[in-house]
Amino acid sequence: MASYHGLKGLLITIEGIDGCGKTTQAKLLYRRMLNSGYETILTHEPTDGRIGTLIERLLKSNEKVAAKLLALLFAADRYEHVENVILPALKSGKVVICDRYYHSSIAYQTSMGLGEDYVRCINDFAPKPDVAIMIRVSSQTSTSRIMKRRRVQYTEQKMIQEKVQQKYDELCKRGELIAIDGEGKRGEVHERIWAIVSEELSKRQSYGVA
Ligand code: TYD
Repeated sequence: MASYHGLKGLLITIEGIDGCGKTTQAKLLYRRMLNSGYETILTHEPTDGRIGTLIERLLKSNEKVAAKLLALLFAADRYEHVENVILPALKSGKVVICDRYYHSSIAYQTSMGLGEDYVRCINDFAPKPDVAIMIRVSSQTSTSRIMKRRRVQYTEQKMIQEKVQQKYDELCKRGELIAIDGEGKRGEVHERIWAIVSEELSKRQSYGVA
């Protein structure tokens, strides 16, 4: 089966509001892929690169950042990520698991007032994922998890989270994301994700370590 990006590898993205458990699930999926013999990389956005670290600093500070500027920074960070990490891995036939990708920009930056067309336009260089998963939890679950953490940053505020969830749901309805129930034990959530990923893998036998 041909992939959307036309490259040998497989791009899997994991999305969801803050506190949905996506980072834990991305790690569990990464380990499962490796144990199953697939050459896999686990990566995330915002990245640890020069623009990603600037974004992190801005989000944690109390400085006001214009929504458009933030959107452009996320897109710039993603551009370097795609060019330097994602495309080379896909070209060499690897599985790439990405914890957040451009669907995060669509969900978060439109929730901060930007138009979806604009956000898509500045991200038009990003290859489409083969499997894009959105982990869905109730706002009570996500809020209680966020509260257990460090200081709550701007993008994690409750009102934004609710809008973000609505946008993610819209993207699921449009068939761009696959919704997974994120409630319950982490092992159970992992099995739900694995069911989707393994179906995709069986469709594409050519992936994996020969
Ligand atoms: P997050 O995945 O929570 O990183 P960490 O767990 O390391 O803090 O991402 C940080 C925040 O950035 C999160 O609230 C979502 C937001 N974000 C956007 O607004 N747009 C984007 O394109 C991305 C990738 C993230």
